[in-house]
Amino acid sequence: MCAAVRRIGILTSGGDAPGMNAAVRAVVRSCFYERIECIGIRRGYNGLINRDFKKMDESDVAHIINRGGTVLYSARSDEFRTPEGQQKAVDTCALLGLQGIIAIGGDGTFRGLQALSSYGINVVGIPGTIDKDIACTDYTIGYDTAANTAVEAIDKLRDTMQSHERCSVVEVMGHTAGHLALYVGLATGATAVLVPERPVDIQKDLVEKIQDARIAGRTHYMIIVAEGAGHASDIAEQLQKILKLDVRVTVLGHVQRGGTPSARDRVTATRMGNRAVELLAQGFSNRIVCVRNGVIDDVDMEEGLAMTRSISTQDLEVLDRMTGI
Ligand code: F6P
Repeated sequence: MCAAVRRIGILTSGGDAPGMNAAVRAVVRSCFYERIECIGIRRGYNGLINRDFKKMDESDVAHIINRGGTVLYSARSDEFRTPEGQQKAVDTCALLGLQGIIAIGGDGTFRGLQALSSYGINVVGIPGTIDKDIACTDYTIGYDTAANTAVEAIDKLRDTMQSHERCSVVEVMGHTAGHLALYVGLATGATAVLVPERPVDIQKDLVEKIQDARIAGRTHYMIIVAEGAGHASDIAEQLQKILKLDVRVTVLGHVQRGGTPSARDRVTATRMGNRAVELLAQGFSNRIVCVRNGVIDDVDMEEGLAMTRSISTQDLEVLDRMTGI
């Protein structure tokens, strides 16, 4: 029988993602249900180092389920990568009597949790990133909202590209992964999509697809480039040179990280936040909450971080059948 958990900490770290607030809310409310005190750590791991925290009550999370960003702020902490920084963070956990830490973020955030765990602190991670690049889960908080934001922007671009018979090259976020770009490309009926998981062949993947589309009667073209596959401006330059097209570049950038979270992100965040608290309350540690086959599950952190998953080959095949005409 594990000793009762009385107080835990919650933080958000790394690139923010729509739905993080819904997860924070779920953690706080689930703690309330379990009679656990919840301390909000501000500015990611820097908050643990600098003792930047606040006791979270229900009123602190009222009306945040629909808000983008994170009320706890986020940061990428260089100091926490050092043994000195980690020791300061561990000292804060001891000072506050924290029996566990829940962190919402990506794989860098989870590596931070592993560091805390090596000092004997119980930890649980919740995947929150628009990149969906965490292999142990089918879904990460923020992905759906980011995809919809990109789709909305690209639909607007299409209108003006159509009027002027131009080619649009749009750069989509994703760090080193192409999940978001591929998904957005499928959703917008792009002429071509470049992802880092597949070597880029300008002639085959772009020039021929645009030429085929031209023969089929198209007069405007939409090219989606995952940021990890190259710079939209370089691709545009090449297309301009080879095909003499009138090309315009749009880098969607951080717009994709903001905005009102979609229903999917809110609900997934709520389910994940709840599971994270349940795990700590039951004495589990070193777990990553995940979605597998549509249900909330959890996985050992080390195993989860060691997993690799490439981009969906099924979706790439669908894309190849849909593009270039
Ligand atoms: O991981 C989320 C992400 O938005 C990536 O898609 C992107 O490469 C990176 O973060 C941008 O980071 P920053 O907010 O530091 O510019």
